[in-house]
Amino acid sequence: MNEDSNNRIVDPNLDEQESSLDKTLRPQTLDEFVGQDLIKANLNIAMQAARNRTEPIEHALLYGPPGLGKTTLSHIIAKEMGGNLRVTTGPAIEKSGDLAAILTNLEDGDILFIDEIHRLNRVVEEVLYSAMEDFVLDIVIGKGPSARTLRLDVPRFTLLGATTKISKVSSPLRDRFGHHFNLEFYEDDHIKQIVKRASTILNVSIEDDCSAEIAKRARRTPRIANRILKRVRDFAEVKNNSLIDNNVVHETLKMLDIDHLGLDSVDRKILLTIVDKFQGGPVGLNTIAAATNEEMDAVEDVYEPFLLQLGFLNRTSRGRIVTNQAYKHLNRKKDGALL
Ligand SMILES: Nc1ncnc2c1ncn2[C@@H]1O[C@H](COP(=O)(O)OP(=O)(O)OP(=O)(O)O)[C@@H](O)[C@H]1O
Ligand SMILES: [Mg+2]
Repeated sequence: MNEDSNNRIVDPNLDEQESSLDKTLRPQTLDEFVGQDLIKANLNIAMQAARNRTEPIEHALLYGPPGLGKTTLSHIIAKEMGGNLRVTTGPAIEKSGDLAAILTNLEDGDILFIDEIHRLNRVVEEVLYSAMEDFVLDIVIGKGPSARTLRLDVPRFTLLGATTKISKVSSPLRDRFGHHFNLEFYEDDHIKQIVKRASTILNVSIEDDCSAEIAKRARRTPRIANRILKRVRDFAEVKNNSLIDNNVVHETLKMLDIDHLGLDSVDRKILLTIVDKFQGGPVGLNTIAAATNEEMDAVEDVYEPFLLQLGFLNRTSRGRIVTNQAYKHLNRKKDGALL
């Protein structure tokens, strides 16, 4: 990701310095996990049923935009099922031998969390199939005519896979997960509860309507809500305000250049580029990325999902189109002129 997006307050990706904050604010139990009610209901039943049968819970695939709680849920599942959690990522498992080493070191009931599972290499992925289905690994040893297959048993583990790009997960892999949990953008009210919970943990006093205001600007994403809250707290501390009030919130958001819908300069740049250079679209994602000098992955995973969700962009087979609603928000007429 380039400089610009690295500094974005509304970037839902996690940056490294933030991970300690992320850990302290991360809910530890399903009860503390706010929102995503359907997923929680399904998970509760699945975990209860597995516990009754004294079996591990079935493999689960968690997908949705960054910062919505995939990693958090995985930690919660491991904790509630009482298994050890082993964390890795798709690109970190380079060879089938790496996978074999991880799997054979697990114990029955352990949870293996593979983040960015869409980036698993194909050979590793195929070895994973039999491990998921039958808890065996077929490893090929040697090459050519003398090659032979070695079958290894692996413990009864649960695989939790997380991805922001479900379309990049192959269907044989997808089909081997018993549960598919699609995390959606949060209701404003749930984000408000998350802000309140975080402010208690961070020990800051915040007026009720201020948590609502932060929630409105947080792109319906818990990670962004927590980040804005932290910046607001910094601002209040520097200005010697012990209480976070409306004034502090507005000043902070103004400094961060976040508008009343949660859009920042990059979102506006993307919309305005489509309006000004491509007559509102349709225009392909590649072209948008090149014309705005943003990375294609960032446009696809970070900016576009929220713009689609707001109804500011439409995705068609010929490319992206800016909607009338977006023109209104940008104060533009259809011909691109200022209103
Ligand atoms: N339902 C929730 N209730 C309260 N806080 C939450 C919830 N979901 C997420 N959070 C907060 O948001 C932070 C980000 O969540 P998490 O790291 O689980 O996102 P993710 O979906 O794994 O993102 P990525 O795709 O970037 O890995 C967490 O540390 C936690 O503080
Ligand atoms: Mg994560």
